Amino acid sequence: MSDLDLFTPLQLGPHQLPNRLVMAPLTRNRARADGVPTPMMIAYYRQRASAGLIISEATCIAPTAVGYPLTPGIWSAEQAAGWAPITAAVHAAGGRIFCQLWHVGRVSHPSLLPAGGLPVAPSAVQPAGEAATYEGPQPFVTPRALETAELPEIVAQYRRAAEHALAAGFDGVEVHAANGYLLDEFLRDGTNRRSDGYGGSVEHRARLLLEVLAAVCAVWGSDRVGVRLSPIQPFNDMRDSDPEGTFSRVVELLDPLGLAYLHVTRLGRDAPGAAGPHFDPDRLRRLWQGVYMTNHGYDRASATAAVVNGEADLVAFGVLFLANPDLPERFRRGAPLNEPDPATFYGGGEQGYTSYPFLD
Ligand code: PHB
Repeated sequence: MSDLDLFTPLQLGPHQLPNRLVMAPLTRNRARADGVPTPMMIAYYRQRASAGLIISEATCIAPTAVGYPLTPGIWSAEQAAGWAPITAAVHAAGGRIFCQLWHVGRVSHPSLLPAGGLPVAPSAVQPAGEAATYEGPQPFVTPRALETAELPEIVAQYRRAAEHALAAGFDGVEVHAANGYLLDEFLRDGTNRRSDGYGGSVEHRARLLLEVLAAVCAVWGSDRVGVRLSPIQPFNDMRDSDPEGTFSRVVELLDPLGLAYLHVTRLGRDAPGAAGPHFDPDRLRRLWQGVYMTNHGYDRASATAAVVNGEADLVAFGVLFLANPDLPERFRRGAPLNEPDPATFYGGGEQGYTSYPFLD
């Protein structure tokens, strides 16, 4: 036992977090079609500034990185200018916000991409399922395998996005390497069938992620860069033949970088077999010397236990933060929680976005 709890401050790189509750990255589909954030996003993030840390919704690094309608971007100066009042509002309310840098890889559709091009991926492996498009759900297409010579431009897109995030006033960035998007597609062998230096061994499959992190850390300093992994998340038709071996090695490769944190979602833990052989992603904690963030399905009691027992330093809450802008205060008081409204999760207006009530 320790005397820690969810309200013990934590030093995260240069940032002093007043509590251990993180607002998880949440796609809300309320940006403009060109990826510029909308004014209603200012109030939404400001309302949640009592989080120890906010991680922004997944934010596209390039026009070719987009996979869903009305998701924000951070590849242009205009998009960065749209984020600036959001980060300023969070800061004015006493909070901190990281930008989650996102390339969806194969999880897209020609109708969402420049000149109707094909989604790109490590290998031409078509995901089962449907893309979310402006015309409604449409079957996924077979993506185009990226040429080795194209990978430096992907890294450069991350670097430019990181520069825009810095200009937009964010406090750091999280590299999204989870949930079946581009970097995760390189990590897992269900989607990476490459025979060049970016496929095969775990070291090769992790190479693009390591190059991206090096580029982003050169902009931000490693202590303001986090990374998110999802070793057994089956979403987006993902699998790996050996998630424990793959992700143990990935974490060993990431550990020496001195990153702000490692963020691991346990999603998929309750679906053994769905994503290949089962292991508990919380075991990665022991391989990681730095700040460890866990996510998925935590409540006040289980999150407190995770921090007290040393299973994690930070706990990210998605749906609970979505529906409770003052989640830390509600947890502190043991107060009742608002009921989330799934009909307004993805897209819409202020209703179900900035309309959830505060306690007082
Ligand atoms: C989604 O938009 O459904 C989405 C986005 C990013 C994730 C997971 C899901 O990491």
